[in-house]
Amino acid sequence: MRDVAIVGAGMTRFGELWDASLRDLFVEAALAGLGSAGADRVDSIYVGNMAAGQFVGQEHLGPLMADHLGMHGVPAVRIESACASGGAALRMGFLDIASGQSDLVLVAGVEKMTDGADVTNVLATASDQETEVYHGITFPGLYAMIARLRMERGTTTEEDLHWIAVKNHRHGAMNPKAQFRREISVDDVARSTMVAEPLRMLHCSPVSDGAAAVLLAPLDQARRYTDRPVRIAGSGMATSTIALADRPDPADLDVVRLSAERAYAMAGMSPERVQLAEVHDCFTVAEVCCLEALHLANGSEASQAARTGYSALGGRVPVNTSGGLKSKGHPVGATGVAQVIELFDQLRGEAGERQVPDAHVGLAQNMGGSGASSVVHILERV
Ligand code: COA
Repeated sequence: MRDVAIVGAGMTRFGELWDASLRDLFVEAALAGLGSAGADRVDSIYVGNMAAGQFVGQEHLGPLMADHLGMHGVPAVRIESACASGGAALRMGFLDIASGQSDLVLVAGVEKMTDGADVTNVLATASDQETEVYHGITFPGLYAMIARLRMERGTTTEEDLHWIAVKNHRHGAMNPKAQFRREISVDDVARSTMVAEPLRMLHCSPVSDGAAAVLLAPLDQARRYTDRPVRIAGSGMATSTIALADRPDPADLDVVRLSAERAYAMAGMSPERVQLAEVHDCFTVAEVCCLEALHLANGSEASQAARTGYSALGGRVPVNTSGGLKSKGHPVGATGVAQVIELFDQLRGEAGERQVPDAHVGLAQNMGGSGASSVVHILERV
């Protein structure tokens, strides 16, 4: 296998972007990524997308996007793993370069969620239709059950969860690409509308439009495109049961643990090496479960990490310095690529007000469904 580097990146702002279509978003992010590396053509394209067919009635995204980038003839395919589609697309691009098949790959995630589709029901198609959706459960409901279980066990409190939203909004307020650039208080979270008890609106990621793109090349060719490449040191993916109730312990994201252990093994690194992480906080409770499963914090440390400052900028492992899904936004197919762009910026020292001092190693974790799929990438400054 060849060493793989990220050599360019670009993304749109995340938010309710009424003036841009699915293809506009993709092209804007892809051109920004290509431009940052001084490239105008690639060997292959991977499009991370969860549900454009349902959100905007558009399938066959590979050729559509190659066409609109003016790259006729280039192999291009859409990769789907629900909300982990972006991370899964990145993994396909990584394997394409590592195998020696391609020398320059574009990986871009995109989602257009605000064009009038029944978003909650479209998202629910990523859970188990027969045993979950049929009975009326939605994603806020599934994660609420995880939160409820943790609260009944006494491992996590409602206030622990409030603090995660507060921290991620504080980080997102410093990110010009974020959907919500406003700080919120614990009281704001506690008073926000109940969505699925105990999760309130400010515990939820929002409904978003956006796209994010990275360019990958073999590490030994990376300096053709940039003087500061970032190496993908490890890539791990795993799956678990599609239905939450089928897991031995629904409050334990075994899929995250397995995908992380594979990425740590490939990178030859232990969790202690990780200096910052972007994790899949689709609901605040997911950030707690992910920190535990990634071995970045354990037990009460993970639950209280935002409250104590452990996972805030300036803490032991700053988590979601971009604002996370909660504040930056969650255009589902784009999220996994955007997470990696935050690490790319951080490891190159280009994260502005959000910069983690002397960042060398970062981890991105992107999850599908209630924990049925997970992709972890470990990035390292070269
Ligand atoms: N966090 C912060 N503010 C939010 C928000 C969120 N998650 N969702 C909406 N808002 C804001 C809107 O910007 C709007 O503000 P404004 O009045 O200043 O314009 C206001 O709240 C009302 O927005 P609206 O779109 O009417 O909210 P809603 O009630 O339709 O949707 C949720 C709120 C939480 C139900 C929706 O964001 C949601 O379903 N989130 C989860 C998405 C999801 O499941 N993703 C997949 C995860 S696996």
